[in-house]
Amino acid sequence: MIQRTITVEKEACIHCGLCIRDCVAACLEFDEEKIPRYLPEGEQRCLACQHCMLVCPKGALSFGGLQPEQCGTVSYGNHEELLKLIKSRRSTRAYKKEDLSQEQLDKLTEMLAYAPTGVNAPSVRFSLVATRKKMDKIRKITYDCLNTVRADSPLFIIKEMAEASKRAGKDLVYRGAPALVVASVDTKTAASVCQTVDPVIALSYLELYAASLGLGTVWDGIAVALARTFPEIEAQFQIPQGCKLSFLMALGIPDISYQRTPQRTTDRITIIR
Ligand SMILES: Cc1cc2nc3c(=O)[nH]c(=O)nc-3n(C[C@H](O)[C@H](O)[C@H](O)COP(=O)(O)O)c2cc1C
Ligand code: SF4
Ligand code: SF4
Repeated sequence: MIQRTITVEKEACIHCGLCIRDCVAACLEFDEEKIPRYLPEGEQRCLACQHCMLVCPKGALSFGGLQPEQCGTVSYGNHEELLKLIKSRRSTRAYKKEDLSQEQLDKLTEMLAYAPTGVNAPSVRFSLVATRKKMDKIRKITYDCLNTVRADSPLFIIKEMAEASKRAGKDLVYRGAPALVVASVDTKTAASVCQTVDPVIALSYLELYAASLGLGTVWDGIAVALARTFPEIEAQFQIPQGCKLSFLMALGIPDISYQRTPQRTTDRITIIR
């Protein structure tokens, strides 16, 4: 966890006030020498968003002891490429046998730290089931649970679908994926309005970034419904104490490729002027 501290290199500061102006929580003021500092209680309000450090034109402000020169370069990429990626991403329901490589796992974990959360709280936790071996164990536990579902249960439809898929040699619940991302939310740190949204944002970012790495993903609502019903399944996900399961995303190397993107209409969008 990065500490909430502000350090300004006096000689470098040009007193422009940009850090004060951009502070989301109005935490900062100028001191007598026109050097930014926390207001009384500013530190408590601070979201640790780092905007003050990121906006400084002179790299004069360090947040939490971090060096501004160690920050990444700002780049917004290419809008045409991004839209192509968004249109090309598909829910993947066929995966190769291989596990994700360590390099792929490292890239995904780096990215997950950059999804926004309400009030910048460290609200979302992830568990990454990273091997087919472990996934097969979870698959077995899941199907054992599903077998106990009775005809009067709302999950019975899933049981019937799973049996039909099995007859076709397919895994309905995890789509044969070798990996699974488990997003959970810390109900103490996440603002209540953000508890549903924060994990979903992170998984949405993950889905697109994974596609850019040539990986396939699928939002796994069926597995979520089962894990919420059967503690034996949820126990496999090592969700930290105080956190509750939010959503699951299966992923792996796709064993299918698409030749074109879908055609969709924009008639669900209302522009208000
Ligand atoms: C679910 C959600 C709700 C948010 N609500 C607000 C809001 O009401 N007002 C606001 O100024 N920022 C809001 N934010 C922005 C966060 O405060 C911001 O993402 C966080 O401080 C990190 O800053 P960054 O997005 O610049 O990295 C929200 C973000 C999320 C994910
Ligand atoms: S880290 Fe964000 S909230 Fe904290 S002082 Fe800087 S700009 Fe303000
Ligand atoms: S943005 Fe940088 S240069 Fe401007 S007042 Fe803040 S610390 Fe000084």
